[in-house]
Amino acid sequence: MRKTVRTAIFPVAGMGTRFLPATKATPKELLPVIDTPLIQYAIDEAQAAGIERMVFVSHPSKSAIERHVMDDAKLRADLRARGKRDLADELQEAALCPEADDAVFTMQHEPLGLGHAVLCAREQALPGPVAVILPDDLILGKGCLGEMIEAYAASQAGHMVATMTVPREEETKKYGILSVTEARGRLLRADGMVEKPDPEAAPSREAVVGRYILGESIFESLATQEPGAGGEIQLTDAIARGAQREGLAGFRFSGTRFDCGSKAGMLQATLHLAAQDPELAPVLEEHAAMCVAPRAA
Ligand code: UTP
Repeated sequence: MRKTVRTAIFPVAGMGTRFLPATKATPKELLPVIDTPLIQYAIDEAQAAGIERMVFVSHPSKSAIERHVMDDAKLRADLRARGKRDLADELQEAALCPEADDAVFTMQHEPLGLGHAVLCAREQALPGPVAVILPDDLILGKGCLGEMIEAYAASQAGHMVATMTVPREEETKKYGILSVTEARGRLLRADGMVEKPDPEAAPSREAVVGRYILGESIFESLATQEPGAGGEIQLTDAIARGAQREGLAGFRFSGTRFDCGSKAGMLQATLHLAAQDPELAPVLEEHAAMCVAPRAA
């Protein structure tokens, strides 16, 4: 079995309805946590994990993502002409070049589901297993994808999903839940997963979050996958279908995950990073003190 993960797929074609009206003109993946857009955190994580090719599955209405991600030589030249050399260098450092960085954009013309978005990347993926990163799942700490790639190479699994343990009563019904057959430290063996089960039906408390390493067969599974929940081609359905044949593993990542597709998660991520920032931490403290101080009569 070929185990080298060379491609990362970034599905960024969704409508981002939970963040309307902010996402009417600005793609969700460009919403910033403090000063860094979500997509940038995801790219940094993939680069740190040694990914060779990045495939962005976008939508024609979200061209701002491409403008953010790719190098903009004119903007850099303009900044330099205005004496802002450092800023120009910083932008160049963060941006991708199509050749040097092997970054590709492809379009999903209709948001037919996450599984369909991954299938749209099929022709662009390099041989071997692929990584999928959902940029609205922000994972801080040790790079989650890097940890997973290491664990994947040592595992027997064809598909691997990132998991975190959630409280049964309140949370299992919000996630895909892994059917765990064996737990060995961070690595879980599984024989399937169930989408958003009621607490009593949940096969475990291991919730699947937005990092995946998928064997090449995923593309064939997706191509023949019937629409599932919401009439969409669901990635979890295709992974679950191939679980027996391919072998499925969960990986309990070490970092902290924020659901930045929701307002609450975005706020938590912002507060978390602000608390660690020497410039912003005092602002946070001052604000918190103001909130608890009794109002003047
Ligand atoms: P989400 O379901 O969180 O994103 O998909 P969404 O549909 O854009 O958001 P809401 O629920 O309406 O607020 C997770 C990731 O998958 C992408 C999204 O862009 C996001 O990065 N996605 C989702 C696609 O690329 N295509 C799709 O058809 C659906």
